[in-house]
Amino acid sequence: MSQTTTSAITKALNTPQSKYYHDLIEQITPGGVNSPFRSFAEVGGHAIFFDQAKGSRLIDIDGNEYIDYLGAWGPAILGHSPNNVVKACQDILARGAVFGTPHTLEFEFGKLLLEAIPSMEMVRFVNSGTEAVMSAVRLARGYTEKDVIVMFEGGYHGHSDSVLGSSGHRSSGGIPSGTAENTAMAKYNDLDSLEATLKQNKDKVAAVLIEPVAGSMGVVVPDAGFLQGVRMLCDTYNCLLIFDEVLTGFRMAFGGAQQLYAIKPDISCFGKALGGGMPVGAFGASREIMNRLQPIGDVYQAGTFSGNPVTMAGGIEVLKTLKDPAVYEVLEARADRLFKGLRSSIEARSLPVQLQRVGSMFAVVFCEKPVRNFEDSKNISAEQFALFFHYLLSNGIMLPPSSVDAACVSFAHSEDEIDRTIDICHSAFNRVFA
Ligand SMILES: Cc1ncc(COP(=O)(O)O)c(C=O)c1O
Repeated sequence: MSQTTTSAITKALNTPQSKYYHDLIEQITPGGVNSPFRSFAEVGGHAIFFDQAKGSRLIDIDGNEYIDYLGAWGPAILGHSPNNVVKACQDILARGAVFGTPHTLEFEFGKLLLEAIPSMEMVRFVNSGTEAVMSAVRLARGYTEKDVIVMFEGGYHGHSDSVLGSSGHRSSGGIPSGTAENTAMAKYNDLDSLEATLKQNKDKVAAVLIEPVAGSMGVVVPDAGFLQGVRMLCDTYNCLLIFDEVLTGFRMAFGGAQQLYAIKPDISCFGKALGGGMPVGAFGASREIMNRLQPIGDVYQAGTFSGNPVTMAGGIEVLKTLKDPAVYEVLEARADRLFKGLRSSIEARSLPVQLQRVGSMFAVVFCEKPVRNFEDSKNISAEQFALFFHYLLSNGIMLPPSSVDAACVSFAHSEDEIDRTIDICHSAFNRVFA
């Protein structure tokens, strides 16, 4: 994406303060961001600095207002700063931010979570999705006394060593070769590929780790029977199935993707929406598996801030709100309205754009054919997406600055906002395909 093209489109957007702080923070923080996702490296230009996030709206430090579909990369399922969550967090904060000892809110939140996810008999709270998956992977290895984890190309499971490949999508330097050797890859939506990987690593696989809907390669929906097939292969090859529901959990349904697709994983991981904005992660499984954790068992896992009262108090409010099926009806209705509007715009001109969505997580991907796996996602045009992204941004709509990552509709989005978004997207498609 050339700088010239970007600035030609964004000239309507006035963000001098954001630019100022972007240049400033770049001097003390690599790339000016505390997480690479936040950088505008893929779409060009500088990141926007926000001052307020409330409901479906963001306001930046220059006073521009946006309808938000970034959703903080997933947590803002109820919209930003829901009143009940804010109040609960404020109330408990005044009594103590962290006790370093157990407290009653851990029980209350844990019970609500276990009621929502019947595949889990016990849970442990952590502080992020990364921690949840990292802990689940260690637990699986400890429980099975095997080393290999099988993942799917293009998946994202946070930034712990075992789940970041040394090549491919979101790969990283600094992964010890010994660690990488214990991570094997299969192709998403391809049971033959999974079976071949399991055969190749026979008797060595601790677990298959999967995002039930792959959120980081264009919101890839599992083919009919795929997840059932994954479950069966795990049973056949005697390994555990870990569902990484950090993105899908409480977003696609109250019981997560496992409820929607009727699959019982052995270990499940949550984060993002579960905290409604507070930093949270959780992993859980059967009593037998979870009791392998210290101090009962031999698998170590810990955290100073895990289960802290502020996060627990916020999470309790989130789950109490999400328990009402009407929330998911609204989420589905809004997302459906958005997609119908976008579809008619795309079909009217037969544009090479795919709409991929499950529930309130979606992606508008710029390629000829639907994306079913990582290979397909390589055909997504980052250049066209960048034009689309900047057109939307300069017209007051915020998407993830990434051609492959999931955008989110929240409970706070109104029908009017959805309709406005459809209109702006229509003009944006005209611009991209002028
Ligand atoms: C499926 C999935 N797993 C794990 C993670 C890591 O979560 P966190 O960023 O909270 O560490 C993410 C984050 O995007 C994710 O989408």
